Amino acid sequence: MQVKDPVLFHQWHPVLLSKELVDLPKAAEVLGEKIVIFRTSQGVHAFKDLCIHRGVPLSLGKVMNDTIVCPYHGWTYSTCGTCTKIPAMPKGKAIPRKAKAITYHCVEEAGLVWVSLGQPEHPPAIGEENVGNELVRVEMGPYEINAAGPRVVENFLDVSHLMFVHEGLLGDSQFPEIGDYEVHEQDGVLVSDEIDIYQPDPDGRGHGVHAKYTYKVFHPLCAGFTKRIDHSEEFFDLYLIVSPVNEEKSKAFMIMERNYALEEDEKVFVDFQDLLIEQDKIIVENQKPELLPLDLQAELHLKSDRVSIAYRKMLKEVGLSFGTA
Ligand code: FES
Ligand code: CO
Repeated sequence: MQVKDPVLFHQWHPVLLSKELVDLPKAAEVLGEKIVIFRTSQGVHAFKDLCIHRGVPLSLGKVMNDTIVCPYHGWTYSTCGTCTKIPAMPKGKAIPRKAKAITYHCVEEAGLVWVSLGQPEHPPAIGEENVGNELVRVEMGPYEINAAGPRVVENFLDVSHLMFVHEGLLGDSQFPEIGDYEVHEQDGVLVSDEIDIYQPDPDGRGHGVHAKYTYKVFHPLCAGFTKRIDHSEEFFDLYLIVSPVNEEKSKAFMIMERNYALEEDEKVFVDFQDLLIEQDKIIVENQKPELLPLDLQAELHLKSDRVSIAYRKMLKEVGLSFGTA
């Protein structure tokens, strides 16, 4: 059943890595709505995953000549959702005008396929700050997480878990203190001051560094950080975009950008990210309450939690009801 949230309804949500969408249609779920995604020579398309004849998911069908064909009785839909062929109908009979699929906005951007159930104002935009720099960019996911989207995003923004959940990798529990920092708003984006963290193995290659983290929150379900390595020009950006499957389930996509180790085998970085997500999943899938409390009195906060506090305040301000309590 579709989850009503006026904020997320009109936003773009990633549903697939671009490279995963080839000849076959794929099923996805956004805000409780079952969707079929398919690719034609005209681009990518999203429909409600339901053939209006007898309710069969179109994602079980196939794509042929720039149309999607239902597997049950072969009804064929053009990319704008109009039914163009009903094989059982005698020749010369007009196709009923009501024979239409429900269509949604669908675009391809930054290596991901995005869907909006409503009327999005802008195309999805991620990490355009580094255009022109020599860097490697990798899309990762989807990571299936049994938790509400805001819980997943807040975990990503949580500085002081690095030394415990990712001990020996992103932090060292012997150095758990977080220096004072502030969070500011710049053009609608929440941005933290730089936060110093010692990391024994920041990217899976086993080289310890003193890193400086700047966290950013772009949208209720889209955040990122830039990590600069002390005394060098190296940086590492990680964007997290959480696709809200429903209030109990999320699909997390990540985009990594870095300007070093350009020749390195990507598998090292991707496997490392997979491991970090496994470590985080154990935490976020077990947090109580399941929905993120926006009342700041509901939990205890420290100065080091300033990014999460700012995130919760932002969700309250925009009026997010999905995944929050
Ligand atoms: Fe799709 Fe009959 S259910 S064609
Ligand atoms: Co983590």
